[in-house]
Amino acid sequence: MVNGAVRVDPTEPDLSVRIGRLELRYPTLMGSGCYGSGEEYAPFIDLSLLGGVVLKSVTRLPRLGNDPPRLAAVPSGMLNAIGLQNPGIDAYLERDVAKFADRPCAVIGSVAGFSVDDYAYVTKRLAARDEIDAVELNISCPNVGTEGETFACDPELAEAATRAARAVTGKTLIVKLSPNVTDIARIARIAEDAGADALAVINTVRGMAIDVERQRPRLGNGSGGLSGAAIRPIAVLAVYEVAQAVRIPIVGQGGIETARDALEFFLAGASAVGIGTGNFTDAQAPVKVVAGVRDYLIARGKTRLRDIVGAANPAFAGVRA
Ligand SMILES: Cc1cc2nc3c(=O)[nH]c(=O)nc-3n(C[C@H](O)[C@H](O)[C@H](O)COP(=O)(O)O)c2cc1C
Repeated sequence: MVNGAVRVDPTEPDLSVRIGRLELRYPTLMGSGCYGSGEEYAPFIDLSLLGGVVLKSVTRLPRLGNDPPRLAAVPSGMLNAIGLQNPGIDAYLERDVAKFADRPCAVIGSVAGFSVDDYAYVTKRLAARDEIDAVELNISCPNVGTEGETFACDPELAEAATRAARAVTGKTLIVKLSPNVTDIARIARIAEDAGADALAVINTVRGMAIDVERQRPRLGNGSGGLSGAAIRPIAVLAVYEVAQAVRIPIVGQGGIETARDALEFFLAGASAVGIGTGNFTDAQAPVKVVAGVRDYLIARGKTRLRDIVGAANPAFAGVRA
């Protein structure tokens, strides 16, 4: 384990978190697609101060991604429609994965797919590598077999993808949920029952911006996924509701830029947090989040982060482990 929950100083609050079999020294994961594998950020931040990095989602076959523009800045956030650009699992395993071996924090592979078989196939191959500590299942993809229904939005597909991935690895499996559903708690329960060790809540929110001069959508793809501060209240509510429905840990994410933002997620019931878009404006954001959470705990006489998880959520159903 690259990132054992070693407490450096027993007089400091314990910020460690256990997610399935994964032990993180810090409760901060860098969001998939927002951090590369960490090497782009290494000149600006000490990677040993992160809990872990979730890698960009990888698919069975190579993908060129969507037509540009792929990003659009909007008030308090951004829209993206990258289109899962990646080299495909063969080239990824051959070229890229070996580079992740010396990361001083956890490395979590992210799997995307367009059929249940894709999820099983890519998870099995990725999880078999020693450089990969855990797998996150990005189920916000359309299923080619059911007229493009999104896995994360369809209870049966969400269950099938989770079961298929669970069957091929004993490593920690995090299932990433989409907010683009009526009842996220229901999908969360289904993923837990299908074998997820943890849930990442939430992926981006569907959105669009229109260029009024060109009278066209600003993204080449038309619609995209909204991230950043704009989605934080949506994400906090999603965590709050999911935390009442499942016992497994939640990695809360969506618009976290500061310690106070992260605290909202912990108090709603998240055991760890993801930071994605926040890294684009402040490369030090993950370090500041940890420092601010530490100060908050000390100011309240708390010795462990887990003691405040779910504190604002009277029906919190999770385990504070
Ligand atoms: C440019 C960009 C690319 C992303 N790519 C992925 C991806 O490949 N897989 C995935 O599961 N999530 C992806 N996401 C979603 C983020 O990991 C994160 O869940 C989401 O943006 C909400 O968190 P944030 O507001 O902190 O960014 C991407 C987000 C952005 C902004």
